[in-house]
Amino acid sequence: MWSSNVLTGKELSISGISATALAQEFATPAFIMDEADFRARAISWDDALKSAFGENAGTVYYAAKAFLCTEVARWIKDIGIGIDVCTGGELAVALAGGVEPAKIELHGNNKSVAEINKAVSVGVGTIVLDSLFEIDRVAAAATQHGRVQKVLLRLTPGIEAHTHESIATAHEDVKFGFSIASGSAWRAIEAVRTHSSIELRGFHAHIGSQILDTGSFEISAERLIALLAKYRDAFGVELPELDLGGGYGIHYVPGDEELAPSVAMQAVATAVTTHCAVHSLSIPKISIEPGRAIVGPTMFTLYEVGTVKDVTLENGDNRRYISIDGGMSDNIRPSLYQADYTAVLANRTSTAPLLSTRLVGKHCETGDILIYSIELAGDIAPGDLLAIPATGAYGRSMASNYNHVLRPPVIAVKNGKARVIVRRESEADLLGLDI
Ligand code: LLP
Repeated sequence: MWSSNVLTGKELSISGISATALAQEFATPAFIMDEADFRARAISWDDALKSAFGENAGTVYYAAKAFLCTEVARWIKDIGIGIDVCTGGELAVALAGGVEPAKIELHGNNKSVAEINKAVSVGVGTIVLDSLFEIDRVAAAATQHGRVQKVLLRLTPGIEAHTHESIATAHEDVKFGFSIASGSAWRAIEAVRTHSSIELRGFHAHIGSQILDTGSFEISAERLIALLAKYRDAFGVELPELDLGGGYGIHYVPGDEELAPSVAMQAVATAVTTHCAVHSLSIPKISIEPGRAIVGPTMFTLYEVGTVKDVTLENGDNRRYISIDGGMSDNIRPSLYQADYTAVLANRTSTAPLLSTRLVGKHCETGDILIYSIELAGDIAPGDLLAIPATGAYGRSMASNYNHVLRPPVIAVKNGKARVIVRRESEADLLGLDI
């Protein structure tokens, strides 16, 4: 839930720097990121993949959509893992951070021709194909650039992973990929084989997000492997790669049990080995794309309390509303997915009795709620600091300018030093787009 260098219990601190000092230097709201924790998490997924699959380990592609900025792209380059991008924008940031194009994988269900051309021309390692149109577009771009582009086909293995509907992506009624069950995957395979400028390396599936058990990953692997066998039976050659996507869940609130990298990778390795043996296939190179599981726990959001208000409910109970200086523009997940978070008083401790509290933002919208119900110290007052942990994934990356609120900065902390890696937006930034 908290990153490894955060201490709670008294005044909250990270790598020895107090919440108060951070608020004084960088103001609030701010995303505070634990750099060492980010690096350690990325490395532990890489190690887990390697130790579970040995020579059959493919690549850990960090899913940029969870959070990316140029500095984080530099860390990815340093660590030596790959990166999954799904737009030209994410590709540009990855390249700006110096990530080797061969270690970039391009996703997206509607990549523009310009995005495809850019990706092919810089030499991205893999393009994951998502529609029949795209097969022709990527083949044409590869021909135009005189390259043979490596591709995977994105497949929907028909699994309802246990997660929120809008972040589940591999059951049948979705916009992503080619369905195995309906035969569209097979038509895509045949279409790819008509082009000599693209080389089909294997299959990809991403079954959902914030998944806390390994069962769905095992079923996904089983179905993709059955299709690898069908391919071998039809064409007499084995495809060498499978990418099983991301989706590994993290600990947001008490009760969530994070899926440890070694546990997840061992379970997937057992499933892959078993099903390859069933079909007498050699084990393909296995890649994964964790986003949330790498970056989620590495950040907390630091807010300042602006107002406290007591509201009497219909049943006569009291609810305390605490308003902080951010809200749905820096964390849309509670409103969009009913995602749960927790919060702590960050600038001091309190022995005041706990009160049932709703934590809300500053937006002009009733649904601007960060935490529906939480017990917080009854003496919390304007000027206090609150910290919400595990906001690293899909917080800053899904932030908006709703109400022309300025998006918060990202402050990286390491070895007792804090620095801005994404600066706070300014009114000049807002006005700069207007003609
Ligand atoms: N690979 C592909 C192809 C994906 O579509 C995604 C996420 C990932 C990897 C990374 O998934 P992760 O390991 O981070 O769960 N905005 C939502 C999550 C949407 C994820 C979309 N795709 C949220 O805030 O929960």
